[in-house]
Amino acid sequence: MKIAGVKGMNDVLPGQIARWHEMESVAREVFALYGYREVRTPAVEHAQLFARGVGEVTDIVTKEMYVFEDKGEELLALRPEGTAGTVRAFIEHGAHVDGPQKWYYAGPMFRRERPQKGRYRQFHQIGCEAFGVAEPHLDAEQIAMLDDFLGRLGVRATLKLNSVGDKDCRPAYLAELKGYLLSRKAELCGDCNDRIERNPLRVLDCKVPTCQPVLDAAPRLLDRLCTGCQAHFSAVKAGLDALGVTYQVDPRLVRGLDYYVRTAYEFVSDALGSQSAVAGGGRYDGLVETLGGQPTPGIGFALGQERLALILESLGRVPPERKPAVFFVSADGEGAVEALRRSSALRKAGIACDLDPRGGKMKTQFRQAERVGARYALVLGSAEVASGQANLKDMATREETPVALADLAARLRG
Ligand code: HAM
Repeated sequence: MKIAGVKGMNDVLPGQIARWHEMESVAREVFALYGYREVRTPAVEHAQLFARGVGEVTDIVTKEMYVFEDKGEELLALRPEGTAGTVRAFIEHGAHVDGPQKWYYAGPMFRRERPQKGRYRQFHQIGCEAFGVAEPHLDAEQIAMLDDFLGRLGVRATLKLNSVGDKDCRPAYLAELKGYLLSRKAELCGDCNDRIERNPLRVLDCKVPTCQPVLDAAPRLLDRLCTGCQAHFSAVKAGLDALGVTYQVDPRLVRGLDYYVRTAYEFVSDALGSQSAVAGGGRYDGLVETLGGQPTPGIGFALGQERLALILESLGRVPPERKPAVFFVSADGEGAVEALRRSSALRKAGIACDLDPRGGKMKTQFRQAERVGARYALVLGSAEVASGQANLKDMATREETPVALADLAARLRG
């Protein structure tokens, strides 16, 4: 019986992996330039971590989390995102004693969403979390870093920026928003109606066309920010201006996770269709404390690697893949042994090469050399072994040039 992969969980095949390697290596390079260091946390955490961290009323926790009982002992969850686990690790290892910290991570996340283009049940994030600095210049620096990263990959995405207030200004606003939404309840879709009581801020995120006029006219948190949040938001914008990062203030930008305060941002791209956010993040100053740590401000983001891969694909940019410099074609048994020996020596010298261990017809071996994209092919048989000479055939021009086998590495390197 053939067993298919799980719905919404994808294979990334060797033919697609160059793009993933490129985004990961550029991320490592750029993040290091800004002082971020990698952390690796488990893909499984206590379910309660996400309920408390991400929020009891979020879709992620109520509908989308893969939760299981581990042999009846503990309730565990596949992580739906990376922030809660990173914060847990930060607290568990007492990292706050070392002052401000900048961490990053990459890995699979799991949400049981309805799969569509750009939305999967297993997806991969590259994320950054910075702890211990409440000042807005950190927000600007981090957003600029993400902008820098996307720019290096040739991706043009629009930065949307908002402030979602804090514990001083948000409660009064939420009450006002709820009142407004209830007054226009009849004009809103079923999903919006479901959310009014539970999570009114998320109603602003609805994309249903008939809801838009109501939501456009809704009271705006940006107009109700307390002095502290207002000053913070202005300073973030000024920081971005100073760094030459362009942004659009989007008063309706809200995020699907409950931990955000003040700065919230997303990078969106037209290449993605309805799942347009390639990355999103924001400040979460109360989260470390909520999860049992010392009061520590924080800000972070995560970008979706599948979505970034879709954008890179739409740009038609194919990062170069390492191809064999030479493919050994064996003419007989003696040639096959020599090919084995020579390929091993070349690889030890750092030169990529290949051969077809099945041997067989030379024509088939040449076809294989073409298929793997080898630059040269080199026929080895008892005659070449005896003379120490062979012909290096350029696979593109078909031109053949003699080469002493002893000089092969130097020749291929040159
Ligand atoms: P998020 O907005 O839920 O934030 O996810 C960040 C990014 O992950 C999204 O912009 C998107 O590119 C990708 N993503 C999310 N869900 C899916 C999915 N089902 N399929 C494919 N890609 C997806 C967070 O997860 C926060 N932890 C970000 C953060 C870090 N905030 C502060 N620190």
